[in-house]
Formats: sequence, structure tokens, C-alpha cells
Amino acid sequence: MIRFEHVSKRYRGTSKPALSDVDFEIQRGEFVFLVGASGSGKSSCLRMILREDTASEGRVVVLGRDLRGLSTRKVPYFRRHIGSVFQDFRLLPNKTVFQNVAFTLQVIGSSRAFISQAVPEALALVGLAGKEKRFPHELSGGEQQRVAIARAIVNRPQVLLADEPTGNLDPATSVDIMQLLARINANGTTVVMATHEAGFVDQMQRRVIELSGGVMVRDEVGGGYGDTSALPSLAPEPARGAAAVAALTAVLELQREIAETPPTAHVPAEPQPESQPAPAASTETRGIPIVAPPVDLADLGLPDVASRLGLDEREGGDEVGPTS
Ligand SMILES: Nc1ncnc2c1ncn2[C@@H]1O[C@H](COP(=O)(O)OP(=O)(O)OP(=O)(O)O)[C@@H](O)[C@H]1O
Ligand SMILES: [Mg+2]
Repeated sequence: MIRFEHVSKRYRGTSKPALSDVDFEIQRGEFVFLVGASGSGKSSCLRMILREDTASEGRVVVLGRDLRGLSTRKVPYFRRHIGSVFQDFRLLPNKTVFQNVAFTLQVIGSSRAFISQAVPEALALVGLAGKEKRFPHELSGGEQQRVAIARAIVNRPQVLLADEPTGNLDPATSVDIMQLLARINANGTTVVMATHEAGFVDQMQRRVIELSGGVMVRDEVGGGYGDTSALPSLAPEPARGAAAVAALTAVLELQREIAETPPTAHVPAEPQPESQPAPAASTETRGIPIVAPPVDLADLGLPDVASRLGLDEREGGDEVGPTS
């Protein structure tokens, strides 16, 4: 679904490459943490997946498309399949919650009928029903990030990229956002999240790709953050430590809940428009099929939201979709 083939990236005017020979493959339905010290290349990777940047060497293949060969005209269509959220939320300050989420759909020409159905569903999924008329400055940071996530998923993307989505939030709010991302992933959306939050990475036990100075130094299923010596201290104050423990306990509970749900759903195989087989895996962690267990949204009072949002069933895409 997302493949980096020996990717290097050199930004103009810099001597050291931002990425060097990065090589990995992410399967449909995976939740992957991208970790590493500041400047290690996490955001550069995400920008390449979104085709905001292109590789200097190597290939980036996303949803069956070699992004090098994707014409500028097709880039906006390609991006419809990829939602993204950032540390700084990036909401439009003069638009309401509803308008912020609807904006994406308006830009791509969705019908008013679709918008009036999809936007409330996305807002309900992120727990913001009833706040449609608020402006961003009338929301907490966590609520603003929820709006950003609703905006990112309202168009039913197959991939959700999150670049430090909890970077501006307190630990308790961060765990809410982590739970939301885990729920979106459990419904079938592939999630790639860049983060410095060692605690979440350690507790969530998902796949971890670690970068160091642009070099991929680890690709591990169910890993922890690893060498945290390069990270800023995460526990300077006792109060924060207590909140973080409570937050992580909540994540663990969610994980247990997901693990105990009978795995009846399956993730369809990724269509591969290319005739070439994927390159041989060079670590043990490659190619492990991830089966996302279904999450019962009935307890949220949203029994049909996931299916209507397309979070659990994928349709054929438009002209740049993987099935075209
Ligand atoms: N547009 C750019 N022009 C030149 N150099 C860049 C550009 N963007 C990133 N870099 C450099 O590439 C390297 C990787 O940056 P990147 O933003 O990917 O790191 P990061 O892992 O996301 O860091 P952080 O954790 O601080 O967000 C850094 O050395 C950075 O200075
Ligand atoms: Mg970054």
C-alpha cells in the first residue's frame, strides 16, 4: 500500500541528505509509528507519501502509484485517498467546525446531499456532534484536533497520515486522540503516525519504523520507542507523570478491548496494478498481514457511521485509485 524503495532525499542547499536509502513497505490496515529524534526525517517521509516532496533517488509507491510518474494534474486526485493531520491542527479560523470539515468535500465537488450526510457522521465519529457551529477559537486543543481528524477522514481516505498529532496536547487529551486514531485504524484505515511520544509507542505495541539522521535503523512489529536518550525528557513534573500513566492505562484498556473482539472482519488484498512483485523483504517484519478486528461503535451510539463513512469497506476509487 505504501512502499519506499531505497529512497533518498536531498534538499537543495543542504550537504547532508534528509533521507538515505530508506526502504520499507506498509500493508493495508497497518498502524505504523515513525519515530526518531528531531530532524531524523519523519516529516520528510510523510511529505513524500503525500507527494508534497519527491524522492531524489529511489521510488515511492503509494496505493499502487509510482509517485515519480504522477503528473501534477493528477496529484490532487491522488491526495483524495490520503487524509492528513498535523501538530498545529491547520483549521480555517473563519469557518465553523461544520464548514471546516465540509470544505474538503466542497473543493472536490461533492454534492450538497452527500456533504450534509457525511460531515455530521464524521463529526459524530470523532465525538463532536453538537459543536458544528463553533469556530476553532471556541474549542479546546483536543477538540480542534478532532475537527482536523474529522476533516481528514470525511472523504473516506484509505490512508491517514498524522505528523505529531498530539504534539500540542496535554497527556490526557493526547490519549483521547490516540484512541480515536486506533479506532479509525481498527475500522480498516491505514495509519502512519510520526511521533516523539515514547509512552504511546511503548504501550500501543504497533509496528515501529525508526529513523536516525535520515537512515532507517529499525523496523519492528510491536516495538517500543527504543533509544529515548535523544528525546526531550517526558517526565519532568510529577503531575504530568501521573496523568501520563492514567492516559496510557486507558490506551491499554482500549487495546485489550480490541484484542478481545472476535476477528470476523477481513482486510481485502491490496490490488497491485503493477506487474512487478514487491521487492524481497529485508527484515523479518515485512509482509505480515494485518487483520483489523471490527470495533463495535454501538457503544458510541453510532452503529452505522463507520460503514457509511467507508471506514470498513473500500470502494473502487476514481481515476487515480488503486483499482483503476
Ligand atoms: N524544505 C527543506 N529544505 C531543506 N532542508 C529540509 C527541508 N525540510 C526538512 N529539511 C531537513 O531535513 C531533515 C529532516 O527533517 P524532517 O522535518 O523530516 O525531520 P523530523 O524527523 O520530522 O523532525 P521533527 O521531529 O523536528 O519534526 C532535517 O535536517 C531538516 O533540516
Ligand atoms: Mg517533523
